[in-house]
Amino acid sequence: MKFPAHRPRRLRKNDKLRGLIQETEISTKHLVYPLFVKEMSHTKIPIPSMPGVYQFSVEGLLKEVEDVVSHSIPAILLFGIPEKKDETGTGAYAEKGVVQEATRRIKKLFGDDILVVTDVCMCEYTSHGHCGIIKNGYVDNDETIKLLAEIALSHIKAGADMVAPSDMMDGRVDKIRQMLDINGYYETPIMSYAAKYASCLYGPFRDAAESPPRFGDRKAYQMDPPNQREAAREIGLDIDEGADIVIIKPALFYLDVISMARQAFNIPIAAYSVSGEYSMIKLAASKNILDYKKTVLELMTSIRRAGADIIITYFAKDIAGWLKENIP
Ligand code: PBG
Ligand code: ZN
Repeated sequence: MKFPAHRPRRLRKNDKLRGLIQETEISTKHLVYPLFVKEMSHTKIPIPSMPGVYQFSVEGLLKEVEDVVSHSIPAILLFGIPEKKDETGTGAYAEKGVVQEATRRIKKLFGDDILVVTDVCMCEYTSHGHCGIIKNGYVDNDETIKLLAEIALSHIKAGADMVAPSDMMDGRVDKIRQMLDINGYYETPIMSYAAKYASCLYGPFRDAAESPPRFGDRKAYQMDPPNQREAAREIGLDIDEGADIVIIKPALFYLDVISMARQAFNIPIAAYSVSGEYSMIKLAASKNILDYKKTVLELMTSIRRAGADIIITYFAKDIAGWLKENIP
């Protein structure tokens, strides 16, 4: 009688053995927490489709950032909701815009205790809800990227540590890089949303950011879900244009894209686990269909296993709390 030589179960017998051979880890230092700040607001407004997520006033945001810092989360990703929207999204690059104001206040109070990353886009600021300037019913690429560079510069002047353009226009990383460099900010990194798909999973975010397109959809600028090779092309272009970190978004339905990018490129990769991923888990957990903590940690593990360095997630505070208490 011959025994099988190979028994993978030998190394699964207990916690210690499993720990020794564990390939992937989640840690707080890789997390980025998205936050929403609303202009001229004095209360903390809950987002019904994203339980636990709020639109903060500038004052409220400062308290929230204190909590984020106390969780040892290194970075926030800031989205602004202006009081007034218009055709060309002027609130996005106003010196006294809500993100600019909030960034100044955060950096003054917390300095190097938190990295402020700002989302650079127009959809929260335009009356039509598109991520750029409309010409003949279509988002005009080259008019838009001029303004995106203005937005990025205004954020950095306000003290932001890094900008994250999320618009998916062609050539915007180059335009922003040039603008920052000309103004002396050649040390400021750009984390570009390089492969951003036109996904159904952004629905809850658009409630939080008050940014749904008022006509049509975003398919003429965001990527088509069936395409993976195209993501490699987009990522390659952003790297060539000077991106320092590339974002792949969403995370959960696009783990293959993360994995491909990890193989094909040496640049740091961030995965954005988006609002729809958050809401699905929150809702299922609230109905006791899924175990909240286990589901969140398994999702995060899968994103790290696919090859992401950084994870942008609305679960960041909960994860940081669990890791602090050392709960497996
Ligand atoms: C807008 C933007 C979107 C997200 C981040 N920036 C959504 C969109 O394209 O409407 C989605 C984030 C999420 O769903 O959590 N440029
Ligand atoms: Zn946008």
